[in-house]
Amino acid sequence: MEKILLKNADVPNINDVDVYIAHGGYKSLDKIFQMGPAAVLEEVKRSGLRGRGGAWFPAGMKWQFCVEVNKFPKYLIANADEGEPATFKDRPFLEKDPHQLIEGMIVSAYAIGASKGYIYLRGEYPTGYKVLNAAIDQAYKKNLLGNNIKGTDFSFDLAVHRGAGAYICGEASALIESLEGKRGQFRVRPPYMATHGAFGMPTVVNNVETLVNVSHIINGGADWWSSIGSKDSPGPKVFGISGHLQKPGLYELPMGVTLRELIYEHGGGIKDGKELKAVIPGGVSTAMLTPEHLDIKMDVKSLQTAGSAIGSGATTVMSEDACVVHMVWRAMAFFYHESCGRCTPCREGTDWMVKILARIENGEGRMEDLKILEDVCHTIHNNCFCPLGEGAVNPVLSGLKYFRADFEEHIRTRGCPKGLRARARH
Ligand SMILES: Cc1cc2nc3c(=O)[nH]c(=O)nc-3n(C[C@H](O)[C@H](O)[C@H](O)COP(=O)(O)O)c2cc1C
Repeated sequence: MEKILLKNADVPNINDVDVYIAHGGYKSLDKIFQMGPAAVLEEVKRSGLRGRGGAWFPAGMKWQFCVEVNKFPKYLIANADEGEPATFKDRPFLEKDPHQLIEGMIVSAYAIGASKGYIYLRGEYPTGYKVLNAAIDQAYKKNLLGNNIKGTDFSFDLAVHRGAGAYICGEASALIESLEGKRGQFRVRPPYMATHGAFGMPTVVNNVETLVNVSHIINGGADWWSSIGSKDSPGPKVFGISGHLQKPGLYELPMGVTLRELIYEHGGGIKDGKELKAVIPGGVSTAMLTPEHLDIKMDVKSLQTAGSAIGSGATTVMSEDACVVHMVWRAMAFFYHESCGRCTPCREGTDWMVKILARIENGEGRMEDLKILEDVCHTIHNNCFCPLGEGAVNPVLSGLKYFRADFEEHIRTRGCPKGLRARARH
């Protein structure tokens, strides 16, 4: 597939606005100002674009809810928190090709009627902070941002807000709390963001990659864009693949590519000619799969049917050398550390599970621990305000479903067969 989203990846100085414009950048603005906001919204709806941040909600529908609210100013926020372990797909836009995101945000803000925008940036991306701010300054100087953009009556201001390193602040409502200067915790809905988002005003939060797709939908048209990928989840997607692979990295591919193609064709297969043991298809909060699932398509419906999820599309591959128990413990240590502490099942459950998993890995586990792990997972499930806790149970339940024998072996032989050890707490 010809690259669309990453087409500028190797263009020197593409972060410079003149270089970006010379490569066709900001072309979509002329088109949208002819179309008008309603037609832009309609085109995005027709494209079937679904959010790339993890929940895969239809972008056009989310925008429509906000458009219908007669309250101003409206906010558009790019979620650049990118906190899910193994996820690095938004990074190239933040650090190398910032104008592609800014252009997508201008087009989206125009359709929504938003006059204020923020890029909520992962605190651990200092390069992105510098690059984005420099690009925003350039865009203001060219009247691509600010008042009366390109002589029209549309005005849009944009600023970068840095996060302080909390995974929960990637969750849209916690992000808004953090943006407002409060502690990053989930907001109970309703009221919904379309009416009461940032600073109590109508707000749309979209993932970086979602917004990057928008100018391409406008330039190429919804029909062209949705002819790429699968019917259920159309369009191009940046897949970040990592772990025991010959060629880990970022690959732009159509939605619906199979796990086999992703791992063996693009990722070059398993490192050192080893066998595949397990694969996490969409970030650690998605359920692990096995070699039997290699022909499953990377799209929303197919992965859901397989009992997992596409999440952020961050695919982590584990070879036969990996210890699944260690991986599950490590994932739980992350969730325990990142639980915001508001819901008891998540706060206490992740703490309990990380201790149990550590003792199994360290050879001090008991067979009844496996039942306790399952019970704790079922207590967390459906009992938390936000999906962090829901995500935390996935590595445990899928680990026990597919690799129970590995857990039992650790308990029986009183240690990790790979010689690994875990700390009780992260
Ligand atoms: C714990 C948690 C962390 C999240 N982290 C991110 C993130 O880093 N980036 C992101 O775009 N979405 C993240 N999300 C999803 C957002 O809540 C939200 O669905 C998304 O930003 C909406 O954008 P989209 O519709 O374009 O995908 C996270 C959700 C949860 C529950």
